[in-house]
Amino acid sequence: MDRRSFLASTGALVAVPQLARIGLPRAGSHGSRLVDLTMRAQREHRALAGSASCQMLTYNSDCPGPVVELREGDRARLVLENQLDEISTIHWHGLHLPNAMDGSPLNAVARGTRYVYEFDVPRGSAGTYWYHPHPPHRTGYQVAHGLHGALIIRADDDPIAHLPERLLVFWDNRLDAQGNIDIPDPDSIPGRIDFENGREGPLHFVNGKLAPEFTIRAGEVQRWRLVNASAARFYRLALEGHTLLHVGSDGGLFEIPVEVPEILLAPAERAEVLVRATADPGTRVTLRSLPYDRYIPQTRPADWREPCDLATLAYSKEPPVPSPAIPARLRVVPPLREADATVTRTISMSQGLINGKKMDPDRVDVSARLGATELWHVENLVGLDHPFHLHGFQFQVVSRNGEPEPFRCWKDTVNVPKHEEVRFLVRFDDFPGKWMFHCHILDHEDHGMMGILEVR
Ligand code: C2O
Ligand code: CU
Ligand code: CU
Repeated sequence: MDRRSFLASTGALVAVPQLARIGLPRAGSHGSRLVDLTMRAQREHRALAGSASCQMLTYNSDCPGPVVELREGDRARLVLENQLDEISTIHWHGLHLPNAMDGSPLNAVARGTRYVYEFDVPRGSAGTYWYHPHPPHRTGYQVAHGLHGALIIRADDDPIAHLPERLLVFWDNRLDAQGNIDIPDPDSIPGRIDFENGREGPLHFVNGKLAPEFTIRAGEVQRWRLVNASAARFYRLALEGHTLLHVGSDGGLFEIPVEVPEILLAPAERAEVLVRATADPGTRVTLRSLPYDRYIPQTRPADWREPCDLATLAYSKEPPVPSPAIPARLRVVPPLREADATVTRTISMSQGLINGKKMDPDRVDVSARLGATELWHVENLVGLDHPFHLHGFQFQVVSRNGEPEPFRCWKDTVNVPKHEEVRFLVRFDDFPGKWMFHCHILDHEDHGMMGILEVR
């Protein structure tokens, strides 16, 4: 079944219309507060985009899972109750936290058990993050069945807190003829294509809905937090007739907003943008993902040149409101300096491998000293893009393919296009332990395109 027939059958995933929120986002506390919450990962039947019933896995019965909201300085206590029939974890993607709280494949949570993730939310970490399971070899499977959610860290000194906010979680999927989530036999041709490209599907969900509609009033400025929770889909996002003011990335706000016509969001990347309602009342525009050729020619999908419509932005009929001021400077991003780097490393990605090897949980691939600054040179040796992700530590890209990065920001995931290279600086502060680095195309990661960094 294709996207059109699904849309014709129901038009939407039967799920919460509004994303549920948990946590305590309010400001004004003294010192640290405890945010105590339990997430249940459970197995259940649900209707997904037109299928009568479909076996899914959910957090707290929602897809996406509830938005976890934390505040800088909070002490967070998040309990996972694993009611699945298999091991799982919750990985807090992008957060700087103690190693045992990272939810990595080395800390799997057995079925029928609970695990308490407890950590302090660092100052300066305000931003848009997400969470997902990370069990060995099964991350793609569990995410495909529904397990993913957004996490927002708020700051008391957020310079654009006055703007109305939206969260858009992008997640694609594909169903088989029976309406179940389509995971082909890995040895079949579709299974091999999924391994090569990463699994993509024709159903483009935004917050668990197909083709949702968002509203805006002329003159208004909205802050959108964008999360790519898809296993492999790249979103080249463009809003018809509008430019976007790009204000933040994985690790929070930039120093200065940047006006862009579009934004490429690789799997696991996030962006914050300001949408300025410059059109007339009553205007309707489409948020699209434009074609992006990340593929090798042999497995490039036949329809890759077609833009995908994701959502509609509908202007209300009301007269324009005066536009709010947008600060010219957002915050200071303290620089990591190349002169402080004590080690330079090369990480080579090829299809399914890092430095020519598959992940081995008993091997340490990179050893680093606690507190050290390092320069990582990540190269992609093959003709397919691989988004590179490092756990636990945000980094600063210094150059791409020899071109200096135009400005500084915090990232935890960076796309390395075919046959290109990216250099970044990272400092291994605070938390020793074994940290994963991997390609965030989940099929690649599950097949072992992952290594271990030990910080000590
Ligand atoms: Cu989203 Cu190993 O991470
Ligand atoms: Cu991660
Ligand atoms: Cu990859």
